[in-house]
Amino acid sequence: MNRRTIVAANWKMNGNLNLVEEMSERLNQVQLDDNVDVIVCPSFLYLAAMAAKLAHQNIYLGAQNVNAQPSGAFTGEVSTSMLQDFPVKYVILGHSERRSVFQESSESVAQKVRSVLNAGLTPILCIGESAQQRTAEQTESVLAEQLQPVIDEIGIEKFNEVVIAYEPVWAIGTGKTASPEMAQATHQFIRQFLASNNTDIADKVPLLYGGSVNAQNCEALFAQPDIDGGLLGGASLKVDEFSQICSTVKGS
Ligand code: 13P
Repeated sequence: MNRRTIVAANWKMNGNLNLVEEMSERLNQVQLDDNVDVIVCPSFLYLAAMAAKLAHQNIYLGAQNVNAQPSGAFTGEVSTSMLQDFPVKYVILGHSERRSVFQESSESVAQKVRSVLNAGLTPILCIGESAQQRTAEQTESVLAEQLQPVIDEIGIEKFNEVVIAYEPVWAIGTGKTASPEMAQATHQFIRQFLASNNTDIADKVPLLYGGSVNAQNCEALFAQPDIDGGLLGGASLKVDEFSQICSTVKGS
């Protein structure tokens, strides 16, 4: 199965209008491999500016979160219909920072996945274990517990419109990347878990790796058979490094 390769940028609560300008100018000039898509997810506030500046066929915009409710008295929140006013195609959901800092449960993440799909947007569903859970050999059960509520909420068939990002919490922002072999083994588990529900769907779902990905380690990680690209934090804020990663990544 040839899945497209995806390089996604999660700016988190970083960046400013200047970075929006510099990054979009540079990305507009990048020559991407035929099978490569790039997704840039700045803060909500910068989606409009980024949309106005990005002009590349295979570079898309994403948001970093959304509220599951269609509208209403939810001060400070953003709905899917608001995102639909902009050329946003993807929404990151269930990032470990949202799970830990903002106490999002896998069930509430599952409801957001449903809302995003209903709005015709593509969720980038983040899952991953903590250092403690890995040491206790709970990685597979944690990932299964994060995936199952989403399967229960939307049904396995709907996963053909979902991107999954495996981000081990211990590798996020720490410089401690999972080795390509370790990341591949976990990606293989995720694909097998999906396959136990539906083999065709499992074959098609893009599985991204996230956690201290940079220009030095991305090629070895993305070359693994079950790794279809990456979700980058720190490196995605550096114009030279991120544009270099996008232009050197090979599609599968
Ligand atoms: P870093 O690339 O900074 O480790 O962040 C990864 C991440 O959390 C992307 O969502």
